[in-house]
Amino acid sequence: MSTHTQISAEEQRLLAQLNRERMPTHIAIIMDGNGRWAQERGLSVHQGHQAGREAVKRTITACLQLGIPYLTVYAFSTENWRRPASEVNFLMKLLEQALEEELDELKRSGVRVRVIGRLHERLPETLVRKVQRVIEETKHNRKLTFTVALNYGGRAEIIDAARKVALEAAAGRLDPFSITEENFHEFLYTNGTPDPDLVIRTGGEMRLSNFLLWQLAYAEFISIPTYWPDFDKNELLRALLEYQRRERRFGGRSAKGP
Ligand code: IPE
Ligand code: IPE
Ligand code: MG
Repeated sequence: MSTHTQISAEEQRLLAQLNRERMPTHIAIIMDGNGRWAQERGLSVHQGHQAGREAVKRTITACLQLGIPYLTVYAFSTENWRRPASEVNFLMKLLEQALEEELDELKRSGVRVRVIGRLHERLPETLVRKVQRVIEETKHNRKLTFTVALNYGGRAEIIDAARKVALEAAAGRLDPFSITEENFHEFLYTNGTPDPDLVIRTGGEMRLSNFLLWQLAYAEFISIPTYWPDFDKNELLRALLEYQRRERRFGGRSAKGP
């Protein structure tokens, strides 16, 4: 049996277990482990990020196939500026290149691209222009909303929202007591996107690293040891099966009792 048929047999086995009635609407991913993946292979960190790019493509394709309407990936955090300049510059170039090269395919396959984060702070001008072009050219697509968290920090997002609220209130356009948990999201970068149901972290760490702090309040968290460049459809299917085994209680009682 060839490797290919082995892989698709596994995929079929996983797909057969999937409950189509209990699919998440929104999956968020902390794409971690590019550095360790490269190190274990004697490759450069750059090659790790390059391989990570392929995993992003695979994941978009898998979400399209599975009919998952929202996918958000953590590409660069407000803390990642602490990395060596050569790595930061490489990541910026890689992002720009990926947006350039994938734009046609994204348009063709019905993907709407959104970007969350401080887009107008520190990022190279050429990257910002490319991002704006991709957002504009894919804005009518609805099959999959693919959100890239770029120069993103959960705390920065909440601070930016607090500033907007304060400015509106100071201008007399907003009553501070009209702000509720339900409408606060209108001030967040993710306005218009439902909160993630499932967050997957590759690379084995058990932390959020400042990702979507407000939005992940009740998401199911799954950490897997697989490094991001090795992530594929079967890994996604395994995470979905784990998600479906979980019982989401939102603070209430289980239907089966305590
Ligand atoms: C995640 O992989 C990619 C980014 C943060 C951009 P890392 O580069 O953090 O990989 P590890 O954690 O060092 O293995
Ligand atoms: C989280 O990974 C950020 C991204 C995936 C973009 P990090 O590698 O930066 O997180 P820490 O440093 O392990 O918390
Ligand atoms: Mg890391």
